[in-house]
Amino acid sequence: MKTIFIFLIFLVFQTSMFAQSYFKPENMLETGVYYYPESWSPDQWERDIKNISEIGFEFIHLAEFGWAKMEPEEGKYDFAWLDKVIELSAKYKLKVILGTPTAAPPVWLSQKYPEILIVLETGQRAQHGTREHYSWSSAKYREMTEKIVSAMAKRYSQNKNIWGWQIDNEPSHYGVVDYNEEARLHFIEWLKKKYGTVEKLNHAWGTAFWSITFNNFNQIEIPSKLKQVTDVASQHSMIDYKRFSADECADYVSFQGKILKATVRKEQFVTTNFMHHHTEVNPWLNDDLDFISYTMYPISGRYAGIGDQGFRLGEPARISYANDFFRPLKGITGVMELQPGQINWAPLNPQLYPGVVRAWLWNCFAGGLSFACTYRYRQPLFGCEQYHYGIVGTDGVTLSSGGAEYKQFMLEMKQIRTRYNANAVCPPDYMALKTAFLFNLDNLWDTEWQKQTIQWDYKKHQGKLYSAVKSLCVPVDFISEKVDFSAYNVMVAPAYQLLDKQLVDKWKSYAENGGNLVLTCRAGQKDRDGHFFEAKWAPYVSELIGADIPMFDHMPVDQFAKIAFGGKQYEWNNWADILEPSKDAEVWATYSDQFYAGKAAVVHRKLGKGSVTYIGCDTDDGLLEKEILKKVYQSAGLTYNELPEGVIQHWRDGFWVAINYSSNVAKLTLPDNAQIIFGSPELKPAEVVVWK
Ligand code: GAL
Repeated sequence: MKTIFIFLIFLVFQTSMFAQSYFKPENMLETGVYYYPESWSPDQWERDIKNISEIGFEFIHLAEFGWAKMEPEEGKYDFAWLDKVIELSAKYKLKVILGTPTAAPPVWLSQKYPEILIVLETGQRAQHGTREHYSWSSAKYREMTEKIVSAMAKRYSQNKNIWGWQIDNEPSHYGVVDYNEEARLHFIEWLKKKYGTVEKLNHAWGTAFWSITFNNFNQIEIPSKLKQVTDVASQHSMIDYKRFSADECADYVSFQGKILKATVRKEQFVTTNFMHHHTEVNPWLNDDLDFISYTMYPISGRYAGIGDQGFRLGEPARISYANDFFRPLKGITGVMELQPGQINWAPLNPQLYPGVVRAWLWNCFAGGLSFACTYRYRQPLFGCEQYHYGIVGTDGVTLSSGGAEYKQFMLEMKQIRTRYNANAVCPPDYMALKTAFLFNLDNLWDTEWQKQTIQWDYKKHQGKLYSAVKSLCVPVDFISEKVDFSAYNVMVAPAYQLLDKQLVDKWKSYAENGGNLVLTCRAGQKDRDGHFFEAKWAPYVSELIGADIPMFDHMPVDQFAKIAFGGKQYEWNNWADILEPSKDAEVWATYSDQFYAGKAAVVHRKLGKGSVTYIGCDTDDGLLEKEILKKVYQSAGLTYNELPEGVIQHWRDGFWVAINYSSNVAKLTLPDNAQIIFGSPELKPAEVVVWK
């Protein structure tokens, strides 16, 4: 385990060496801002860019919605305005990230070639007017994409002030399924490649049921919820469609990536900005980008947070989750858009808690990000995003409160860079806790399509486990099945419903060699096609955990049942796998009531040098899950640091950073030799303490 661990550190080191061409390690995190020259009078450009630089920003983000200005008529390009803005950026020492503008094609394009538009589930073609309304599958759109991206690359690929490129904007279709005929034909091609024969597809999709059997591939339609009379399309066709659609998005992004990579200077990076929570795209597929960045709006009216001001502070683990999700993909990442203040598009748009923008920035720093870019510099006076705050307000010059917090953070970054130590060594106890979260979108897609209880929520299930781990001050990497597991002492694989024997064998040898695997409810019920196994329930997992799973149960929404663990009772009502352990599995928790009272809810088993723990339930508050995870770390001899509620703490480059997301004051105990750089260990809401 140890040798592999050192090897991993070496790999990470290698990746960061590679990243040095884009990001200087001693800068740690660089800060930038979105600017839309196309929205403002050219005689304000210099004033704005000068101010951006004077506030302390180090880079500027341009052009991702500028297609209509760059190509006002088909084939007629106008880059003079962009040249001017890039020159001004250089004059004021701002590096530039250029966006390719394909998320929002010009009106002439959508009207002349309507086949580029996605078709909605109702059969209507999307209308021009917003964005992400183009089809990834449209040959015409690829042709037009190639022209504009090549024209931009030709003009700017050798420009020394261009730092990097962002492809498209939040490629995703925002979750809307594309029923364009070209998408259907590409889906059929994808299926042909996967199955070879229609008989194999019929088997995998279980079409013998309800007379769905296909005679040939051409009969296949894109699965729909809306168009079915009863029920929804079969989960087997749905999961293949989702896999295809994620591939199609990745293929479109890579299509642009290849055009750029063939031309741009090697010092220019190529990335895209995925929405941090989006589940219809698969960042693991974008192999040819230098890294994947993400977008983040922590206060968008959906999260209560902790205490009465939590809705202004955000969920404690939210930014950390995105950091831990995107960073391990390539060893580097950054936040391409970070909320600067009140926004316009959420169900409700409260003001932010004073200080929290700075706290988020410190969270980005602490999570190992190479840059943080805020959306946007000026508050718009018109357009769909009126009411969205910027770094400056409607007069174009006065700093917003978020703007002032950026300024403060950027000054602090400059101070902290003077203390950068290239040889800082991560504290071994902290490193030893490093935990992998194994993630495969199949499990999310399948369990969400067949929830079995309206209370099932994959993201919440995963989020509870992740938050529990983070509250113990544990560093986390989200990883895919392809990664070498042995670098992690603990691995959590939430609701891993779809799997095969190969994965279970990999888990088994992981545990035998010293890894501590935590599986949770629903694990291993189905094969990769989503079929049950023709065997006892969840056979591979059952053997691995040393327990049979004769049944599972749900409670009504307003009724709770109990589980006993460590002398306490915990409530559950979402999901319960009832477990019957074999001899070598220890029972850690049992159901206290219902007709199966006394049966196991959590089992743990030593396996070789490691262990396997199975948490059969999903509770609302995640308290039981947290206690079990604590016991897993304890049993593995790993020392965690349980943080006060709402506090997130990370180590990076020799610095410890703790942030308080709760509405209450949190008191930390710092080591006696801690040298505090900013803040104090008594953290008011949104306060940060940084120490060495
Ligand atoms: C993001 C999007 C930006 C902007 C922003 C507003 O999701 O990528 O273009 O619309 O939201 O908050």
